[in-house]
Amino acid sequence: MAIAAVARSEIFLGDVFARKATSLNGKWHFIVDPYDTGYFDYRLQAYDASVKPGGGFFLDRRAKDKTDLVEYNFDTSPILNVPGDWNSQNKELFYYEGSVWYRTKFDVNRSAPDHRLFVYFGAANYEADVYLNGQKLGKHIGGFTPFAYEITKFARNKNNSLVVRVNNKRNIEGVPTVNTDWWNYGGLTRDVLLVETPATFISNFRMRLKSGTTNTIEASAQLDGTREDQTVRINFPLLKIAAETRADANGVAHAELEAPDLKLWSPENPILNDVEISSGEDKLKDRVGFRTIAVSGTDVLLNGRKIFLRGISIHEENPVRGGRAWSETDAKLLLGWAKQLNCNFVRLAHYPHNEHMARLADEIGILVWEEIPVYWTIQWTNAETLANAEKQLSDVISRDQNRASVVVWSVANETPVGEARTKFLKSLVDEARSLDGTRLVSAAMEVRIDPNDPFHKIVDDPFGEFTDLCSFNEYTGWYDGLPEKIDRLRWSIKYQKPVFISEFGADAKQGFHADALTRFSEEYQADVYTRTLPMLEKIPGFSGCTPWVLCDFRSPRRPLAGIQDGWNIKGLIGHDGKKKMAFAVLKTFYNEKAKMGN
Ligand code: GCU
Repeated sequence: MAIAAVARSEIFLGDVFARKATSLNGKWHFIVDPYDTGYFDYRLQAYDASVKPGGGFFLDRRAKDKTDLVEYNFDTSPILNVPGDWNSQNKELFYYEGSVWYRTKFDVNRSAPDHRLFVYFGAANYEADVYLNGQKLGKHIGGFTPFAYEITKFARNKNNSLVVRVNNKRNIEGVPTVNTDWWNYGGLTRDVLLVETPATFISNFRMRLKSGTTNTIEASAQLDGTREDQTVRINFPLLKIAAETRADANGVAHAELEAPDLKLWSPENPILNDVEISSGEDKLKDRVGFRTIAVSGTDVLLNGRKIFLRGISIHEENPVRGGRAWSETDAKLLLGWAKQLNCNFVRLAHYPHNEHMARLADEIGILVWEEIPVYWTIQWTNAETLANAEKQLSDVISRDQNRASVVVWSVANETPVGEARTKFLKSLVDEARSLDGTRLVSAAMEVRIDPNDPFHKIVDDPFGEFTDLCSFNEYTGWYDGLPEKIDRLRWSIKYQKPVFISEFGADAKQGFHADALTRFSEEYQADVYTRTLPMLEKIPGFSGCTPWVLCDFRSPRRPLAGIQDGWNIKGLIGHDGKKKMAFAVLKTFYNEKAKMGN
């Protein structure tokens, strides 16, 4: 069976949940392969690099007869649920980092012979080599963004074998790099779909307000296929507006629609508009909100009005069930808790979460900060590392550019001040602005302490010059001193920009009660909140915060036995779903803010 030894190009399938698709979610057979026996021969040559491979689990072979030597068999191998990480599903894989081979089988029932077929993955952590019927489709790097491959030429009607080698080994040149404060969940962690399209189809589209207006819609669509100069029709049935335009030779179509009756989206009023985009046989539907977001001096303006961002930071984990969150139900749990806190904003840390989060935030009215995992100290001078980060950024922007809720693209968290780093981050800011000039761009920076005065905190990171928000993490009372120190702080902030506290907090074991000076007690954590919020209110330009963190989450950096036991316990909600005292402290503060119209 001949193998073309190339990685075919990935394709971006936008609005995938509105497409004609068959779910490939479910029970997949898997083979754990710590030595990559299914990928390399004993000379460490990759099997899929050769035209006539002598082995490789992607061939999904079966022994032909009793004499035939085949040392793996997916059919008799155990199963894992997809979507889902392997760590929380299988005790033996809880700490496992390495390769796991997944295999599923499916039939194809195309509705027209000239239609095209794609396999779509919501995400796979961290590297995924994808094969269909023994054919290499491609390799995706990055654990939190979607990817798809065309299989039209390789698919057969019956019994297709889809094999994916997922490897979550951490590597120094990766994004993220080898050390993070979250669990390195591996696997096919989000939806897998078989997508069918007409020969020419709409691969992605973008809807937004024309800059400087609140009632002119700028629509664009990208066609993929032979007849890329086709007509594209955009229709907003309830707004009773529509437009027709022709795509150019590159398959790109643009149109402007005057929408005199357009109502703007906001957390209080999350108005979404049904939209239909069609071209030839292809038709996509979506629900899109329109709003403006901007900064003016030290204010954040939503639809031209000053807003205070009542936020919370969230990891993509369902603490109660355990493991990576991936579904609409998980999104409802996490954003439901944020709503109970009276939040109008969430920071999805530190990597792009699944699409259900931003879509639900659109529906229920919560603003969103999205981030790529340029976390702590990655390889700033490594061109491949930069290309990897740029790809993750462009993929999340392509995926969520139509979400009204998403208002901030964050390009990094807690990265060390330095020339190479600032140059690296600046290029990400430029990329974000060139791909989407309608949203704010920021990062979570760090604070430095005046060497002559421990109570004097300084924010003058040179990277702050390039961001729309002056956002930083601040841990006085936990990593720096005791809670009483919070009351005595004074700040020097270099930038005349909205000040946004992207993290503050303290650990507390849910149910552990003691005096407010006993670390890990709920009282200590509540005291940090009680002192920090009024302290922040005194900072000129204080425009919001996303305390660390909504709920406890697993971290390999937190071994304190009997207290942390492998969890970062800075959550306001324990990993049993129970609220801690500090939850009420923050909620009361946000209720006050909301009452004042913020
Ligand atoms: C850091 C970091 C988080 C981490 C938190 C903590 O600021 O950004 O990822 O979990 O602090 O130490 O709890």
